[in-house]
Amino acid sequence: MASMSWFHVIFGIFLRCESTFDCSGTACSSSGHGLLQVDKAMGQQQVTTTTTTWASPYYMMRCAGTQAMTTQHMTEADYDSITLKVQGLYQSLPSTCTATECPQADWAGCVLRMAGHDFMDYKDGEGGADGCVDLTDADNSGLAECLHAGEFGISIADAYEDFCESVSLADFLVIAAEAVMTASREHVTAEDSSRSTIDFKSQFKFGRTTATTCDFAHGRLPNPENSCSAVKETFVDSMGLTWAQAAALMGVHTLGRAQVSNSGYNGWWSSALMSRKFNNDYFVSILAKGWSPEASVAGNPAKNQWKRADSGADEAALGKEMMLNTDLCLAFSMDDEGAVELDAATAAEAGCECAWGTPAAISTAITKYENGHFCGSTDIPGKDNFKLQRAICCGAEFDKVSDAVIDCGLPLKPEGPAYSSIKKFANNEDKWIKVFKGAWKIVTNNGFSLKRLRSCYS
Ligand code: HEM
Repeated sequence: MASMSWFHVIFGIFLRCESTFDCSGTACSSSGHGLLQVDKAMGQQQVTTTTTTWASPYYMMRCAGTQAMTTQHMTEADYDSITLKVQGLYQSLPSTCTATECPQADWAGCVLRMAGHDFMDYKDGEGGADGCVDLTDADNSGLAECLHAGEFGISIADAYEDFCESVSLADFLVIAAEAVMTASREHVTAEDSSRSTIDFKSQFKFGRTTATTCDFAHGRLPNPENSCSAVKETFVDSMGLTWAQAAALMGVHTLGRAQVSNSGYNGWWSSALMSRKFNNDYFVSILAKGWSPEASVAGNPAKNQWKRADSGADEAALGKEMMLNTDLCLAFSMDDEGAVELDAATAAEAGCECAWGTPAAISTAITKYENGHFCGSTDIPGKDNFKLQRAICCGAEFDKVSDAVIDCGLPLKPEGPAYSSIKKFANNEDKWIKVFKGAWKIVTNNGFSLKRLRSCYS
């Protein structure tokens, strides 16, 4: 059905939210518990007791007029206006970070994750960056905050209301994600002007149509427990990325963190302070730190992750640093041949107690990005004293066991499916940025026929 006529039909969609909606006018805002039947054409609501299915972002936005389903025109100035508005919200948050609090990292992380959860349901021409996720799905827990409910009191719904009549929510969510990545990148370039800026605008295209429901999305988000099989299924098989592009895309985890209250996992992908900076630290962390399995996170046997185990781990000062199976599997496997995927739940019993690699592989990164540190230390014996090096990376207790076979695969030759890309991106941030931008373009454009931004309205 064409989008214009779509607005003129009366349709009923049953919603379920943590809260009730006030659907007077054309958009819903939340204010309590309940189920609604929305009549868009009449701008009326009827509370029903019907079993529900959906709470998608479209219904969470505030819009004084009629929300655009597909953006018809967009100029570079329009893109800039949205970016400035979103970045203004971001910059209104405190820029300070402690081991447990980093508001800009949390907010930017949530906005970017929102975009990721939107496009990760793409398969066989269906889904993609259509602005639709099911907010009642446990996999999307935590997204409502920065979307509309307010994380630190702020949500992107506050920005969208200025553009809602001309820009589709689907386009807006992509631009919002680009805005927070750009703002987070500015912390990196402000500290070191030799680092490259990231420009998303020049490759942005508009014209994504917002979907109000997307039942097919259920179950399509990759399960972190499923390691690189999940990465392959989602990114390589469904979304058309190469392994290098999939690895580059996962670099988004350099921003934000996991929280038990949302996903059941727990920690930052790097130090708390680093988690508000959009850089290649994700790749450096994978290879320049030692990781040990942490089974049953917060007592939940369904949630298993990896925690930093090397001499630099300092939860009290830096925050808890962790990786998911789906992160670490890109570089490491459980066995020497690369046949057994990393699995934090069973790693220890399989003799895989520490995932770490040789410092020689990332000597450039150690100098360039780590101030000479590897596994938290400037003492880097490497292969000259393998046992000592392992103790620095994996824990002092492993120095005492003469032939301890505790490594996840061979540190000198990790066999994860994207190890060579991880190594490349760790040593050279510009190479990561280039591949990341290509991957970002594919995943945000998948399924749509889009148009380039114009320099002006003609
Ligand atoms: C194999 C693929 C992926 C898996 C298994 C995965 C898993 C997760 C999990 C479990 C969390 C923690 C959520 C929480 O507790 O709040 C998370 C956070 C995050 N994810 Fe992913 N993710 C994947 C891909 C992506 C992609 C493609 C993006 C975006 C483009 C993304 C962006 C983020 C961000 C920015 C955060 C931090 C959220 C915050 O700080 O609130 N992820 N991811």
